Amino acid sequence: MKVSVFRKAHFNAAHRLYNPNWSDQKNQEVFGLCNNANYHGHNYELEVKVTGEVDPETGYVIDMKILKDLIYQEIELRFDHKNLNLDTEEFKNLIPSAENICYVIWKILREKLPEKFDLMIRLYETPRNFVEYPA
Ligand code: NI
Repeated sequence: MKVSVFRKAHFNAAHRLYNPNWSDQKNQEVFGLCNNANYHGHNYELEVKVTGEVDPETGYVIDMKILKDLIYQEIELRFDHKNLNLDTEEFKNLIPSAENICYVIWKILREKLPEKFDLMIRLYETPRNFVEYPA
């Protein structure tokens, strides 16, 4: 029997949406407020969904303590209270849109989770705007 388990996490981070290949005017037209040169912050809410077989010996898909620690070590410590553009390797050359942040989080966790699990990431940039990967 396969079951999906979910773990929520949270981080605050600042970002700026800016494409260095474009003029300042085009950046302003496309990204508007999110192009603010002095950055702005979001309270990101993260949902991590892990799907797998229930282990008959534990009744677990995955030990939630292990999942919690993995998210803390790999995502929260890396991104919480950071300026994503300036402070992180991941977004030095990648626009830190919710879409790209979601994909980067998936990629980091995917490499740490055993292959037998399916992984899906949902990231809320605001209570009303959220993205999911894989689509
Ligand atoms: Ni923003």
